[in-house]
Amino acid sequence: MQKQTIVALPGDGIGRVVLEETIRVLDHAGFDAEYVEGDIGWEFWKKEGNPLPDRTIALLEQYRTGLFGAITSKPKDAASEELDPSLTGRGLIYSSPIVGLRQHFNLDVCIRPCHTYRGNPLNFIRRGAGGAIEEPEVDVVIFRQNTEGLYGGVEWTNPPEIVYKGLSTHPKFVKNFGHVPVEELSVSTRIFSRKATGRILRAAFEHARKFGYKSVTVCEKPNVIRETSGMMYKLAQEIQAADFAEIELWNTNIDAQMMWLTKNPEKYGVIVAGNMFGDIVSDGFAGLIGGLGFACSANLGEKVAVFEPTHGSAPKYANYPVSIVNPIAMLESACMMLDHLNAGGIAERIRNAIADVILEGKVRTYDMMKMAGTADVVNKGAASTRQMADAIIAKL
Ligand code: NAI
Ligand code: MG
Repeated sequence: MQKQTIVALPGDGIGRVVLEETIRVLDHAGFDAEYVEGDIGWEFWKKEGNPLPDRTIALLEQYRTGLFGAITSKPKDAASEELDPSLTGRGLIYSSPIVGLRQHFNLDVCIRPCHTYRGNPLNFIRRGAGGAIEEPEVDVVIFRQNTEGLYGGVEWTNPPEIVYKGLSTHPKFVKNFGHVPVEELSVSTRIFSRKATGRILRAAFEHARKFGYKSVTVCEKPNVIRETSGMMYKLAQEIQAADFAEIELWNTNIDAQMMWLTKNPEKYGVIVAGNMFGDIVSDGFAGLIGGLGFACSANLGEKVAVFEPTHGSAPKYANYPVSIVNPIAMLESACMMLDHLNAGGIAERIRNAIADVILEGKVRTYDMMKMAGTADVVNKGAASTRQMADAIIAKL
């Protein structure tokens, strides 16, 4: 395999340290790559008034693969207060650079795998029929539509007249909201396009076929949200019937799914959902396999792909003299990148090394020991971020 160039996007807070440790593991695992650093995050908002500078977009345009740590986001007003004084009064408004990246490059397919590592003390357990404790093995891959739906940003408070008039053509609007003064209305739309819905569904079915999952579950709410959820489920039926007859298509409602995932999570394989329900169901499953220290993701577009842990910048822990956070979520995200670049053999070695460390149980970060995240956890026996990475390197 020829040498790869990866755009490293450390971002803020713990994003920086988990990315640094991950690159160290990738080097030791024999991944032949050069990393060019892209500026992104809070520092660039404060200094330049743009958390996602054009030069970073250009790097991704050129190299197409990004490995992203995490960023700090703050509400609009708080963000304005931290802006460099020379930039105030220019009407600059903060918006999240990771959302910006997903939109700029149309990274519409988000993949969030959740699988159990044997021996992880954070694994979900339940009581079986005879009263015995059971530890079901979770192996679920969530496909989340990443650009549309409720997170598409098409929303108003006190909607303009033309929107209000449009809404008033719907009998349900007249019946349920016709009496509300327009300035008291807030509207957030949930728009699905057939193209993007088809892309996420196909990606889910193809993944199921490639990795031998027997079912694809559409997790929406078509009985109530008839148009968007309904369109997604109907399209799933068409795609399955036409091209994926060997894979079962299941249909669950998001609310029921959140209950079932603690009753029988081992039943599910590939799950596919719109933006918000995908966000919710993936956090639900992540909670069963260890939480934020283990939750990884890929954002895939037609040209560019960005890989990132689900967690944020955890500012509370960012300035500890010794970093205590778990690097596994970032490392697993890097393994998804390796799969994407057809370096699956290296990914497998890293995943096996992680599995060995977890099963052995000698080296555990504070979250795995169920400790509060204070600066002294390393003195109390928890591994630091670096010690965890070292332990994984030793098993490669
Ligand atoms: P967070 O994910 O940064 O942290 C929440 C808590 O989870 C932490 O306090 C810590 O207890 C735990 N945690 C997170 N990562 C961990 C790891 N690797 N190992 C062990 N424990 C870990 O979420 P929070 O505190 O809500 O947000 C902090 C900042 O991050 C905010 O500015 C937020 O906007 C941003 N954020 C950025 C994201 C991104 O870059 N994609 C995603 C989520 C939040
Ligand atoms: Mg989330």
